[in-house]
Amino acid sequence: MQKKNILLAVSGGIAAYKAAELTRLLKKQGYAVRVVMTESATRFVTPLTFQALTGHPVHHQLLDVDEENAMGHINLARWAEHLLIAPATANIIAKMSHGLADDLLTTLYLAAECPVSIAPAMNQAMWGKSVTQQNIRSLMECGVQILGPEAGDQACGESGMGRMLEPEKICNILSSSENAALKGKRILISAGPTREAIDPVRFISNRSSGKMGYALAEAAVKLGATVTLVSGPVNLMPLTGVGLVNVESAEQMYNAIAPNAHEYDIYIGAAAVADYRPAEVVQQKIKKQLMQSNIPLTQNKDIIAAVAELPNRPFVVGFAAETDDLEQYARHKMRNKKLDMIAANWVGREQGGFDSDVNALKVFWQGGDETLAMMDKPLLAERLLELIAKRMHEKNTA
Ligand code: PMT
Repeated sequence: MQKKNILLAVSGGIAAYKAAELTRLLKKQGYAVRVVMTESATRFVTPLTFQALTGHPVHHQLLDVDEENAMGHINLARWAEHLLIAPATANIIAKMSHGLADDLLTTLYLAAECPVSIAPAMNQAMWGKSVTQQNIRSLMECGVQILGPEAGDQACGESGMGRMLEPEKICNILSSSENAALKGKRILISAGPTREAIDPVRFISNRSSGKMGYALAEAAVKLGATVTLVSGPVNLMPLTGVGLVNVESAEQMYNAIAPNAHEYDIYIGAAAVADYRPAEVVQQKIKKQLMQSNIPLTQNKDIIAAVAELPNRPFVVGFAAETDDLEQYARHKMRNKKLDMIAANWVGREQGGFDSDVNALKVFWQGGDETLAMMDKPLLAERLLELIAKRMHEKNTA
């Protein structure tokens, strides 16, 4: 069966040489492929290479009469059923996130109405710069799927995050996300604990490791979603293809989630958010002799309840961590916080819950429930997301 029309846009980085192999693999998988290049990409690989691989002329100029006569940029954008930019340099990412259209590639991005994926590739310091991360976040908010990058040795001799994903991996993600349960969905996930400062050295926190929330983020990408993860302090590696926002306190987590949640299709609150914080953060370390036995506390805002109150709210899924009366407390939280679904787990037991590699869930929604048996968190996350996709579809078509 003929697969989609993929417009592969190659920008100017050393990883451009990998785009030739990517073209070959996409063709082999049955996609119809056309290639556009930035001027600087043509310095790394010649257009002739891609012309030979695709059997079609390669476009690299916006204002060239011959190229426009062959297939104008608007027609190219219309032809594309998927726009894949690989490699995507820091410069192209910055231009796309600001809506510039000063060459063929950026003009095509603005003109394209199909799904867009980018495979970033750059030096590790450039990838780590906060402005690049901001640009990536704003593209994700516009629904652009971010494929990679991954960590490893770089052409510049350094090592770190910034290598373009291998062509085979890109191909696999594209073809598996075509039929995926969460294809095209934007998902916001919270993970990990929060820390509520008492003074510069002490804080109130909990045992959450972030494993459950990170497993959900990774599984959601696998199922075709664009994912933003708001994470409390954890000892886990950032995930490939997931937009990461690091926070520490419940207030910071609230500020990272509540104002942005309306831009997402699904919100999943897997974080163990502290319900209370010290009423006052003392600026100097409190001397042992002056430490009081009761610290005055103030209640934190409920993040998930605020998301559920939004006029154009996403599908809202909460977690309930309980040591007793699991079903009763979970159902009460679901009603109270106006959630679409709640995933309840036992905590404080030998297996599952906090900081464990495995977990089990009892999932409730209005008019139904399902039990997901004890299994590895990554597999459990996939099962839960499939259930969420099914419920959301039922709700939207009801
Ligand atoms: O991180 P791991 O070590 O892998 O452990 C996973 C987990 C046990 C932390 C996870 O599976 C889990 O149960 N997360 C929710 C823990 C929790 O705080 O539950 P809760 O019953 O206190 O809160 C109910 C819901 O309200 C949760 O979705 C929570 O994110 C949300 N909440 C709570 C308080 C608050 N101020 N704002 C919130 O949004």
